[in-house]
Amino acid sequence: MKKQKITKAVFPVGGLGTRFLPATKATPKEMLSVVDKPLIQYAVEEAVEAGIDTLIFINGRNKTAITNHFDKAYELEHQLELKEKEQCLAKIQNIVPRHVGCIYIRQSEALGLGHAVLCAKKVIGNEAFAVLLADDLIDGGTKGCMQQMVEQFNYSNQSIIAVQEVEHDKTDQYGIVQVDDKIAKNAKIEKIVEKPKPEVAPSNRGVVGRYILTPKIFELLENTKKGAGGEIQLTDAISELLKEEQVNAYAFDGIRYDCGSKEGFLEANMEYGLQHPDIREHLINYLEKLHERFRQDDC
Ligand code: G1P
Repeated sequence: MKKQKITKAVFPVGGLGTRFLPATKATPKEMLSVVDKPLIQYAVEEAVEAGIDTLIFINGRNKTAITNHFDKAYELEHQLELKEKEQCLAKIQNIVPRHVGCIYIRQSEALGLGHAVLCAKKVIGNEAFAVLLADDLIDGGTKGCMQQMVEQFNYSNQSIIAVQEVEHDKTDQYGIVQVDDKIAKNAKIEKIVEKPKPEVAPSNRGVVGRYILTPKIFELLENTKKGAGGEIQLTDAISELLKEEQVNAYAFDGIRYDCGSKEGFLEANMEYGLQHPDIREHLINYLEKLHERFRQDDC
């Protein structure tokens, strides 16, 4: 098979964000901010670091916030220039580097992740591509999760899905995979199921929102019926893909924050806050005081 390069990434951003209402009433959940940057920007930076130069956003309602975020903000830039706020200016200019292009596709109905990915079919064509779910925020340390996956893909030319161990009683929140080798970092998937109950889950290896998929997935998605939660599930199409091609589960290096949940989102803010040079000291002092206060309350 001809070696392919991953140059395109799909960002499904059309979900309803029900777990964060009312915050997400007029704003997509991917625009919620961890410290001072929206979740979608972290995901875009991870993709760009991995060599991706075409970003495809699958929008739902409330699409303008994301489009505006990656567009030039003339008025704001002008105001900041007048006030000589160079540092602020640098933060909003070139959020997306010049060589990277953005494409926006409207998903008119929130029919599920599988349907969102299928919306990118015409733009992707016959290439392998990446999918990033921005509510999974991943701190890959020295190398981002997508870059780790692209390196694996360059070696194998096979679809790859990021996985990590999840708590046994939470398997019904994830796609769950069964692999042929439980120790290997990159193992062949034998089975994948969307959100199985703990008693029937084939393992506790959960799918995290990073995928590299071959274009074969599109014809399978076209025939995928509604699955878990009454939605067209990407997992179900991947389950069909397994019958035709090898798909691998990749245990990435890094920490993943489930920013689709309030707990994970607050944890991410805390951790990224503690890494942020401007607020680190303040946050440490505050947490110490808070800890002291709770200890006294317990007495
Ligand atoms: C989606 C996928 C699921 C995956 C999860 C990771 O579910 O359908 O397989 O494990 O993302 O975050 P969602 O969280 O959108 O319900």
